[in-house]
Amino acid sequence: MDSTLQATQAWSLHFDLLLYFIKIPLAAALLLVFISTYTIHAKGRKCGCKGRLPPGPPPWPIVGNLLQTGSVPHVGMRKLTQKYGPLVYLKLGVVKAVVTDDPKFVMEFLKKQDHVFASRPKNIASEYFTYGGQDIAFSPYGAHWRSMRRLCLFELLTPKRIEYFRQGRLEEVKCMMKEVLACSSSNQAINLRDTFGALSSNTLTRMILGKRFFGSGDSGPAEAAEHKALIYAAFALINAFNVGDYIPFLRPFDLHGHERSMRKIMMRVDKIYDAIVDEHRRRRKEAGPEESHSNFVDQLLSLPGENEEENLRRTTIKAILIDMVAAGTDTSSITSEWTMAELLKHPELMENVRAEIDKVVGTDKLVEESDLSSLQQLKATVKEIFRLHPVGRNPEVWENPEKFRPQRFLTGDNVELSDGNLRIVPFGAGRRGCPGATLGSSVVLLGLARLIQAFHWSPATQSLNLKEAHGLMVLEEPLQAFASPRLSPHLYS
Ligand code: HEM
Repeated sequence: MDSTLQATQAWSLHFDLLLYFIKIPLAAALLLVFISTYTIHAKGRKCGCKGRLPPGPPPWPIVGNLLQTGSVPHVGMRKLTQKYGPLVYLKLGVVKAVVTDDPKFVMEFLKKQDHVFASRPKNIASEYFTYGGQDIAFSPYGAHWRSMRRLCLFELLTPKRIEYFRQGRLEEVKCMMKEVLACSSSNQAINLRDTFGALSSNTLTRMILGKRFFGSGDSGPAEAAEHKALIYAAFALINAFNVGDYIPFLRPFDLHGHERSMRKIMMRVDKIYDAIVDEHRRRRKEAGPEESHSNFVDQLLSLPGENEEENLRRTTIKAILIDMVAAGTDTSSITSEWTMAELLKHPELMENVRAEIDKVVGTDKLVEESDLSSLQQLKATVKEIFRLHPVGRNPEVWENPEKFRPQRFLTGDNVELSDGNLRIVPFGAGRRGCPGATLGSSVVLLGLARLIQAFHWSPATQSLNLKEAHGLMVLEEPLQAFASPRLSPHLYS
């Protein structure tokens, strides 16, 4: 696998796990491990082997190797591993990093020695969006992270809770189908980025906040529009290159104006999340705590705090809510958009996926979550997306690495989205591995399965642009396509 371990973006990587963290949305497929020089030097000193850093391009004064990674950093870093070998040392301004594309090293970083690398590097955006590290994803490896992560795994994302919200997920998929049908009836191209974005956001905000925020729904149009705009603006800021992260003496000048924007956005986000917490507190008071355990906010309000405090602190609750919405939204929707893009480019592969759905489920009923584990073609396709977008292209690991070939994963009885040998790491691995992998996989697979089962698809433009956006791992342009229904009308109602 071509696992790019990249200091600066490791933050974004994990962040795009979070909603403001879109930068490495397919962090999943990507192996980003950040190794601070502190770690490297400290170890070097101990063993008397200071200076034994991996090879890498000679750094320039002040900027280091920043300009040598190119405008699409993960592609630039892949080239560097081709030139310098499986471990490359980079100095990105003051940030020191090691990049690898070798599963053997990935195993060392993410599994065998992951306790050493279990804190994500901080950056400016994380200061603004996590209430000073109160969340899970950016919280340093330690007691707070441990207790928040435990809470997330054993209270919020348990199989029982995920099952509890199944109906909500199905309703969101139905809404998505209705909207696609409406566009198709009026011969309009469908913006699949918006479609998948709304699906993953609404599914998550329903579970987490108790309301849907995109399109029509429980929160009024003005509030929904504001939430959506804030999320997108935060995404954009997280993705943006911020020179102050790498050359700290430039930070006070806020050369891109990002910090000013972050402050403004966070003030508004904070207000919205304050209102959400207040509303749930009020409802719990009125209905009684026993009656109101219907979403994550209610659950968080019912839990005891750290250090024997009676309840979790308000900022901790808000940080976790934002984390969860952010972590699940972008990761899921970008995976789905890439999958549809590759299938539109390879119609014969779309047909394979559809033929299998027809065989397993039939054409007189719609795919359900319980069918997903039997859809090997679909799972192999999503897994191939995790490999190819962004960086699983090491020729020593993959045959024809540049080719989109889901069949490469159809070798056994069952396709798992993750890879035990860490040739790809769609959900990370080790202590900081993704706690929402099961939920995220269901959202992605069900949304795709329904769209492929229920509609014929054709690209809206003659030549599909599958280029990655400058510096990011999202498609440069939102994917647009035409759909036409292929099942009986009653299945769309
Ligand atoms: C297809 C969907 C998803 C993908 C591809 C994905 C991928 C990832 C990856 C690669 C990481 C970093 C792992 C590491 O550092 O080793 C991560 C972390 C995380 N993910 Fe996900 N994720 C997805 C969905 C979700 C969902 C639905 C949630 C929650 C509702 C979630 C919550 C988190 C959290 C809280 C972390 C930080 C964990 C920690 O630092 O301890 N993710 N995710």
